[in-house]
Amino acid sequence: MDGNLGHKVCVIGAGTMGSGIAAHFANIGLEVSLLDLTSQSVTDGFERAKRARPPHFYIPETASLVRLGTISENLDWIAEADWVCEAIVEKLDAKRDLFQHIESHLRSDAMVSTNTSGLQISLIAEGMSESFKRRFLGTHFFNPPRFLKLLELIPTDETTIVEVRRMAAFLEDHVARRVVMAKDTPGFIANRFGMWSMIHAVHTAERLQLSVEQVDAITGPFLGRPRSASFRLNDLVGLDIMADIASNLHERCVDDPYRNTLKLPRSMATLLDRAWIGEKAGQGYYRREGRELVVLDLRTLAYREKRDAAIPSVIELMSQPIGHRIGAAIELRDEVGDFLREHLIPVLRYADYLKESISHSVNDFDRVMKWGFGWEMGPFEMIDAIGGDKLGLSSTKFYQDGKVRDFQGNLERPKVETEYLAFTDYPVLDEREGFNIRDLGDGVTAICTTTKMGVFSPALLKALLEFLANFTGRLVFGSEAKAFSVGFDLGFLLEHSQAEHWDTVDAALNDLQQLSIRMGEFPSVAAVHGHCLGGGFEVALGCSAIAALAEAQIGLPESRVGLLPSGTGTARMRLLHQTSTRGLAEMAKQLTLGTVSANAGEARKLGYLSENDVIVYHPDRLISAAKKLALTVEPKPVPPWNQLEGPIGGMIDRGIEELRARGDLTEWDKAIGEQIKSVFAKATSWEDALYRERHEFNELMHHALTQARMKHMLETGKPLKN
Ligand code: NAI
Repeated sequence: MDGNLGHKVCVIGAGTMGSGIAAHFANIGLEVSLLDLTSQSVTDGFERAKRARPPHFYIPETASLVRLGTISENLDWIAEADWVCEAIVEKLDAKRDLFQHIESHLRSDAMVSTNTSGLQISLIAEGMSESFKRRFLGTHFFNPPRFLKLLELIPTDETTIVEVRRMAAFLEDHVARRVVMAKDTPGFIANRFGMWSMIHAVHTAERLQLSVEQVDAITGPFLGRPRSASFRLNDLVGLDIMADIASNLHERCVDDPYRNTLKLPRSMATLLDRAWIGEKAGQGYYRREGRELVVLDLRTLAYREKRDAAIPSVIELMSQPIGHRIGAAIELRDEVGDFLREHLIPVLRYADYLKESISHSVNDFDRVMKWGFGWEMGPFEMIDAIGGDKLGLSSTKFYQDGKVRDFQGNLERPKVETEYLAFTDYPVLDEREGFNIRDLGDGVTAICTTTKMGVFSPALLKALLEFLANFTGRLVFGSEAKAFSVGFDLGFLLEHSQAEHWDTVDAALNDLQQLSIRMGEFPSVAAVHGHCLGGGFEVALGCSAIAALAEAQIGLPESRVGLLPSGTGTARMRLLHQTSTRGLAEMAKQLTLGTVSANAGEARKLGYLSENDVIVYHPDRLISAAKKLALTVEPKPVPPWNQLEGPIGGMIDRGIEELRARGDLTEWDKAIGEQIKSVFAKATSWEDALYRERHEFNELMHHALTQARMKHMLETGKPLKN
């Protein structure tokens, strides 16, 4: 179902959340107005959002698309909105007053929602008209909205099912959210359970006299959670926000026998007294002092040097699959075992205690923790992995044979959500060295590379060319790894340049060029996520179109390893920008610098993506979007090589000279810029450009400075400026 709601949204409240939500809406192309009490407060709030780190916006220019106004002067913006999303202070009276004030201005078919994190939704709507109540619900976004895809949708008993469905579909289809339906209970699912477990970890650390570093070493990636683990996460969320949510939950959950865990631990209360509330105050459990991090000692409550918290059992178990290692760790007779028995077991038991009262299914519950907190496994998946009997719970599994147990004990098969399928959900037609061939259905085939970070080795290029030689049909090209591709195999290049195997290198480059060209000979789409760099990007550029996830980092950073893009990349950038000398000169600068965009929006702005390419904003819909696109695209022949108007060579020289004068380029970078110029300004045809790419590449590889750059990158993962 496609959410049939118009695209005009009015956000009320320009604080942390309102501004972040408005920024996200503008990023993804909705028409947004943002209102606050006064022009001063709306401007201040929005200016803070513009300075947010990590940035709320993909590119700063998008900020100008948000229309700023006040609640008294711009009621007409409310009147034209398809959806009014309230994110003002967390006070029941203020929210009620606001809705009463705006109700008569709302369009009769507009949706209305509150972003409250702790108030009862039905109480906010009390006293409002029937027409209002049937389309009013909670839309609980997570901070920062650009990066956290979870949205808890909380209807009241009076919200009609039609409106709930309409809103859920709109949020998934047009707002890039994963929606979980929650019940109108205190803190919904995420805060009720998530906040309790965050505070429980602090209590446990204090009781067991473990350090901040030790607990963070245990509760980060080791437990399948983000690096922010426990204490770093507290600082990021803000201890003030945690305290507000905890006290609200404590007050409202009078029948919860476990609510006393929500009372503030000693260290947290002290930090709050000192106003050291975390990241936004510059200090909390951690404080940055110059380049060093200092850490709060939980016993003395003073900062001290951060210690190395490498725990032998954590290091030893880390290589095991997550379910295994947690099951094993819980039995350990060391600080890890002690902590997990005292913390993880109660946390999982608490999830079991809460499940039916706050969620519609354990799958929903797990999804909240995975999508909102970045847990690799939700609590019920973890209970299954450890074995309920070891936790004092039932040994009956929650998940079995692709089915989920409901609260009556029956196993139900969850609905297949085709738009969210990943490559690995599709059947494998053939498995080759370095890639799988999968059937995406509807006549679309996928090639999914399986190399680490999508690296292209010469063997992989050969195998792909061989498979594609007889390929007919429609293709999606992507990767099953963490990244689309970090590029061509640098180890191979270094080895063969040191051994002076120039022909071997040239043959591999030729294969890379041929693969990129072959991609355009049938309808093909590159499905790009994570990093899409160098040789990987050159293959993507050959496809009929690129479908890139919004957060994908795209670029041609070859100069950072002393080379120029030579798998058609330089020639293709020449073609893409040949109608504008200025654009071409600018691109020569980017290639000389080796610029990689921070996201797909920036890649478009830099000129790496073309109009045919699509940015996919929903983080979980890349494959379905790529498949949809593959069904419509045509083959992409190489366009004609136009003669350039104007003094392009001189313009490139000037641009590079400016960068050199600013200290952005070394002499060796400048030499690489010369080679790029040779392809841009001197090549007389596409074929000549491809020859020049390979020839210049070869020249650069002979040089010690280039070899030093490659070696340094391989050894440190960082570029060498020499
Ligand atoms: P905030 O305090 O940063 O911002 C509130 C904004 O609302 C201020 O700019 C204030 O001037 C404005 N405001 C107050 N009364 C108003 C009125 N009558 N009309 C228009 N504007 C008015 O608050 P924050 O943190 O952005 O929270 C907003 C809502 O989002 C709250 O309900 C909160 O519970 C919820 N929330 C907050 C999260 C967070 O991490 N901060 C996360 C998820 C939800």
